[in-house]
Amino acid sequence: MAAAVMIRPGESQDVTFLRDMVRHTGLDRSGVTIDAEPPPLSRYVVGWGRAGDTALVAFDGTTHVAVGAAWCRLFTAAEPGYGFIDEATPELTVAVVPSRRGEGIGQALLTAIVEQARADGVAAISMSAVRDTPAVALFEENGFRVIREHGTAVIMALDL
Ligand SMILES: CC(C)(COP(=O)(O)OP(=O)(O)OC[C@H]1O[C@@H](n2cnc3c(N)ncnc32)[C@H](O)[C@@H]1OP(=O)(O)O)[C@@H](O)C(=O)NCCC(=O)NCCS
Repeated sequence: MAAAVMIRPGESQDVTFLRDMVRHTGLDRSGVTIDAEPPPLSRYVVGWGRAGDTALVAFDGTTHVAVGAAWCRLFTAAEPGYGFIDEATPELTVAVVPSRRGEGIGQALLTAIVEQARADGVAAISMSAVRDTPAVALFEENGFRVIREHGTAVIMALDL
């Protein structure tokens, strides 16, 4: 990762940034529907701070501008995320701003959030990404296995 980029815990004031970042996943255009509707991406951040919410933010050490984020959130069967497996398995979202991709920031965020989840005693995490994107290769390289596919979304999980 670029030397000037650092990672810190996410706070409630980062929710607007997380809301922007989740749009980069493109999952709302993946063809996944529940009751004929794509799950709203706002579901990944609304009411931030509930049990299980954990976020890390990567920021430029010179400008202090946020450049990426990784966060875990538990969902319910009634209001699932795109990578929902069960109510005990947090779903992970990782995104880096387009202008800072390919610098190792995504890998650093992924490594850090997996370490955090493991330290928190989480047994497994899931995620969902659009097929044929760099995200799928990144997660596969980090040991995630494919659980199912739905539309163009690939749902993966990692046992911790
Ligand atoms: C997935 C994502 C987070 C990767 O972030 P990044 O900072 O660019 O990733 P890194 O620079 O750490 O690269 C990690 C690995 O990903 C792969 N990768 C990254 N960008 C790639 C690209 N444009 N083409 C092919 N592979 C790529 C490579 O395998 C790379 O490993 P390497 O170091 O051996 O080259 C970023 O592309 C992104 O924000 N995508 C949109 C959000 C998303 O889809 N998130 C996943 C769903 S939650």
